[in-house]
Amino acid sequence: MTTAALVPAAGKGERLGAGTPKALREVGGIPLLVHAVRGLAASRVIDLIVVAAPVDFVDDVRALLGELDVTCDIEVLAGGESRQESVARALIALPAGVDIVLVHDAARALTPPELIASVVAAVTAGHAAVVPGLAVADTLKQVDAAANVIATPDRASLRAVQTPQGFVRSVLQAAHAGVDPSAPIATDDAGLVEREGVTVHVIPGHEEAFKVTRPIDLILAEAVLAKRRASGNVS
Ligand code: C5P
Repeated sequence: MTTAALVPAAGKGERLGAGTPKALREVGGIPLLVHAVRGLAASRVIDLIVVAAPVDFVDDVRALLGELDVTCDIEVLAGGESRQESVARALIALPAGVDIVLVHDAARALTPPELIASVVAAVTAGHAAVVPGLAVADTLKQVDAAANVIATPDRASLRAVQTPQGFVRSVLQAAHAGVDPSAPIATDDAGLVEREGVTVHVIPGHEEAFKVTRPIDLILAEAVLAKRRASGNVS
């Protein structure tokens, strides 16, 4: 089995505040994207990584990742206007011979390698589509345009899903082929696969696979990294 990881890293990160694109923002003095790529390589289950970089930073990202001492191959290309378009561009660039494809947000920079390996193991075990998910702590409300509550879904049946999401390559390709990349309709890849009627299997996620989105997430990421460094689990 040959396994590739597509890494959408082309977001502007506006919710983090103005400045450098999110994937290049640093935690512990290292860009989020470098943490994410190192985590994928450390899982030892990935052969090729394809990064969709911010369009004006493709050369910088190529130089940054070119310095890394990792065993898997790394390709860098320009991402798109939406996450869905960035993934679609990376998917098209995959060479023949890749059977399993992971899609992993650069913003989930501190995802433990063990979680990455678990996703690949679940696909290898026969699930065509696999996502890590956690029980939700908050009660979630569905609201209308006027911010009035219209439903309270049963919390016990909800999961907050993370990445990497893992797929049999043909399943992910069929899901992306059926939609217009310039008119995004899903915020994750499992969402596209579900539309094709494919069952998506949820495995236990990990708290440290959170997505760096808001300023407070940078503080949390610094704390997680400090804890790892103190315990000798250096990144
Ligand atoms: O916007 P959000 O934080 O949900 O983005 C999730 C991931 O998708 C991030 O790693 C971000 O860099 C990536 N992304 C992308 N292309 C875009 C927008 C987001 O690759 N146009």
